[in-house]
Amino acid sequence: MCGIVGYIGNKNAAKIVLSGLKRLEYRGYDSAGIALLSGALNIVKCKGKVSALEDLLKTKDSSGSIGIGHTRWATHGEPNDVNAHPHLSMDGKFVLIHNGIIENYRKLKDELINEGYVFKSETDTEVLVNWIEFVYLHAGVSAEDAIKLALSKVEGTFGLAIIAIDEPEKLYATRRGSPLVIGLGDDEFFIASDATPIVEYTKRVMYLEDDDIVILTKDSLKLKNINIEKSDIPIFQKIDLDVNDIDKGGYEHFMLKEIYEQPNAVADTIRGRVLPDGSEIKLGGIMGILPELSKADRIIIVACGTSWHSGLVAEYLFEHFAKIPVEVDYASEFRYRDPIINKGDFVIAISQSGETADTLAAIRLAKKAGARVLGICNVVGSSIARETEAGVYTHAGPEIGVASTKAFTTQVAVLTMMALKCANIKGLLLMDEYLSLIKEMRELPSKIKTLLKQDDHIKEIAQVFFNSNNALFLGRGYLFPIALEGALKLKEISYIHAEGYPAAEMKHGPIALIDENMPVVFVAAHDRYYDKIVSNVQEVKARKGVVIAVVTQGDTTIRDMASFSIEIPEVNEALAPIIAAIPLQLLAYHIAIKRGCNVDQPRNLAKSVTVE
Ligand code: AGP
Repeated sequence: MCGIVGYIGNKNAAKIVLSGLKRLEYRGYDSAGIALLSGALNIVKCKGKVSALEDLLKTKDSSGSIGIGHTRWATHGEPNDVNAHPHLSMDGKFVLIHNGIIENYRKLKDELINEGYVFKSETDTEVLVNWIEFVYLHAGVSAEDAIKLALSKVEGTFGLAIIAIDEPEKLYATRRGSPLVIGLGDDEFFIASDATPIVEYTKRVMYLEDDDIVILTKDSLKLKNINIEKSDIPIFQKIDLDVNDIDKGGYEHFMLKEIYEQPNAVADTIRGRVLPDGSEIKLGGIMGILPELSKADRIIIVACGTSWHSGLVAEYLFEHFAKIPVEVDYASEFRYRDPIINKGDFVIAISQSGETADTLAAIRLAKKAGARVLGICNVVGSSIARETEAGVYTHAGPEIGVASTKAFTTQVAVLTMMALKCANIKGLLLMDEYLSLIKEMRELPSKIKTLLKQDDHIKEIAQVFFNSNNALFLGRGYLFPIALEGALKLKEISYIHAEGYPAAEMKHGPIALIDENMPVVFVAAHDRYYDKIVSNVQEVKARKGVVIAVVTQGDTTIRDMASFSIEIPEVNEALAPIIAAIPLQLLAYHIAIKRGCNVDQPRNLAKSVTVE
């Protein structure tokens, strides 16, 4: 949930750390801080975004070639200058930055208070840094051993960058449950929550595993383990992330850039998996497992937010094509409701970030119960990707905007390929239907490009509705999850209350909400439910509801009933979710912009929810 950046080398650490923090602001941005070591230790921190820290630092000493920086999403203690990271221990022996939650911080704090420690902040992080110092001063061990010993008593999650004042030439980094990446430069090392702050300096990275600890100097790296006295050989890999992938590329917002990247993102996700001649689907990461998946007694999908919506689409896909029973669970519910997980079950975790705490906990529960667990992630080397038995990466590229767009459409593309392949393995799909669906998948990127040409039209519709206080999104079948997704997009970036519903459910209560002030968005492409949804539109019209309809190109029936319509290209109903989500993303974007909202960093939200 927070962003961490560290640097040790020969350059000015402040410049590198600040620019890295800006690339991580999507992880949290309510306060920020930096600690720099150049002989003396200099800590500068404040409430607000990284730009506020940057302005403050201009009035301070920003020298030093060792530095750690943090951009925060508050979990313990409100966003303010005191609760901002870095946190310094009471006797000044350690300073650290932390991403995660220390679950036994209360108990440790009470012990430390009994030992005379005084706390300035409300954070669990300040407890952690004082706990490390307490062990250091009382166990008579080295700084490295004090860190290891102290952390072995800590419960919870952490990604840490630590400076020990008595070892001014070193920098420590360690993790448990929160991601940390180490970048290898020439006589310099980088630490970050993910690779985006590192790639402009080096493409050689190493992903830390839980309980790894690295001890860095300008020209050396030692990889050890918190619990076991052993040194490991660091394995660096070359990543193909590019700085341009991370910048806005001329768009006003990351979200708009990522909406427009969807033709390429879907094409990249399909590439190499739908063979060029359209003859086959090959999902490299799970090819060996697909025959077993196709015979699963049940598939349980665990995810959160938008990823949960792609899981709902998968339920329709797997049950319709592969005849496999599917259950879709919010990961946050699944992990605590004592779910029945049988050996014949396959669990599929869907997560853009690959770090969502609830989803991570859900797969750990499933693994413990003996289920096979697969992952669909967008971040290579993320915790969920590494903790699942196998999986499929969406090749959407970095998704910086908090509102998920290209990650969603590429997740659905992966799930569609998985369901079709399972059906093919089970002989449930006639070859010509299989090949026709594959062909249509390959045509999706160009259809998305065509659809994006309606952006100005959608923007005009947004001008009419940006002042609404509520909105309803209705769909059926494959497009019911898209109604939910459209509602989530609108509410999370425009702060308008919006609800998604199965269209037929209206008569069981929500229709009472309909009046001339209620915009009702129907996701009503041509599919088996079309005639039914026509009736649902009539029900809303009869009650003066204002209808915005997403319809298939050439539709006249619903188009003529609606006050506003958005046409999407004709596509097989099973592939409609990928297409139909896009106008709703644009509608939410333009409404939010018109309302003056920060679409890339909406209030109260962060891109990766790595705490529960
Ligand atoms: C989506 O627009 C939201 N930002 C949020 O619901 C997100 O989908 C959810 O937090 C899950 O994140 P993940 O895919 O990284 O696990």
